[in-house]
Amino acid sequence: MTFTIRVADQDISYDCAPNESVLDATERAGYSIPYSCRKGVCASCLGDLVAGTAFVRGQGMCTGPMQSVLLCQARPQSDIEISPSRIRPSETIQRKIFTAKVRKIDRPTPTVSIIQLRLPIGRRGIFRAGQYLRVLMSGGDSRNYSMANPPQKNDEVELHIRRVSGGTFSEGILTRLAPSSTLDVELPYGEFSLSDAVDRKAILIATGTGFAPMKSIIENGIKSGLTRPLHLYWGANIESDLYMLDLARSWAEAHAWFTFTPVVSAPSSKWRGRTGLVHRAVQADYPDMSELEVYACGAPVMIEAARHDLCSESGLTNDAFFSDAFVPSGDRGADRLAAAAATAKGYAALST
Ligand SMILES: Cc1cc2nc3c(=O)[nH]c(=O)nc-3n(C[C@H](O)[C@H](O)[C@H](O)COP(=O)(O)OP(=O)(O)OC[C@H]3O[C@@H](n4cnc5c(N)ncnc54)[C@H](O)[C@@H]3O)c2cc1C
Ligand code: FES
Repeated sequence: MTFTIRVADQDISYDCAPNESVLDATERAGYSIPYSCRKGVCASCLGDLVAGTAFVRGQGMCTGPMQSVLLCQARPQSDIEISPSRIRPSETIQRKIFTAKVRKIDRPTPTVSIIQLRLPIGRRGIFRAGQYLRVLMSGGDSRNYSMANPPQKNDEVELHIRRVSGGTFSEGILTRLAPSSTLDVELPYGEFSLSDAVDRKAILIATGTGFAPMKSIIENGIKSGLTRPLHLYWGANIESDLYMLDLARSWAEAHAWFTFTPVVSAPSSKWRGRTGLVHRAVQADYPDMSELEVYACGAPVMIEAARHDLCSESGLTNDAFFSDAFVPSGDRGADRLAAAAATAKGYAALST
């Protein structure tokens, strides 16, 4: 049965198809609301259910008025009224599914793989720098990975994948891939990309493979003649985890608008660079962040600490903090974490 979704205090309403999520229906109607993982884990999509009933995976049957509902997991069971944290018109998203062929796999460290995928001849994957794709797996499950190549190179995609112990994709499927293996991928997804505020300096903070979308953003900047100042901080436990250190240094040498600061939390005696937590290095360099934007990607624990500390201690405004937390994007992890998310306490636990 088709239900109607109304948006509180706005002249916006649209249909939701049977078993469609509120997020999917909203996008299909030509609007965007905040989201990141689309799996019920990151809590970016939290909004209020003002009236009506929806089934929300991880939160059960919810009837409005109810605050803090995961709109990516909410499936209406009646006409409903919602109040998302933000809604705005957007271009209708043209997502495409490709069977991509593995061209090359590099393993720069024992825990990171860099995969180059070639899209079918004559087909283009259109995306904005910073967005991610979904690797489609058997049984309807999927995994999210950020594109590391600039969008101008749209006949292929580059992914940087960190091995997660016991991970179905990153330790299982990935280790069996070889040149000419194929993967089904769907793109583009995600809201993580540079804003139009071109005269504001942007601080980019990455941990681990959170470097991937930053690489796409910076290489896009190089190709499109960007002059907006960008300062990338890349944090890791040990220096060898900074698996493209020379590339990042070469950007800084070649482009006056780009600054690079690597930060290592458990360095060897040979490390001569910055040490400690990456977001603390940012705070030390920028005590007043009121005129800046921050883009953070990678470990959820870093993102939550950065959001909290930069906004409460360094004057960053909440709406100038943009992030993609690399939370578990598989159905298994999402189920476990969505169950924890059913309480306010559970949401806090997501970031640890
Ligand atoms: C928007 C988005 C973009 C992402 N982009 C990238 C990327 O560019 N590169 C990248 O390496 N990863 C990225 N991820 C994470 C990625 O999607 C997978 O979740 C990750 O690779 C693990 O998948 P898996 O199949 O190997 O593990 P699973 O089989 O899903 O999980 C195995 C076990 O590990 C736990 N687990 C899963 N992921 C994590 C994690 N990240 N940290 C701690 N425990 C975990 C699960 O809860 C489960 O218990 C992104 C996630 C999101 C939401
Ligand atoms: S987008 Fe809904 S929880 Fe991540």
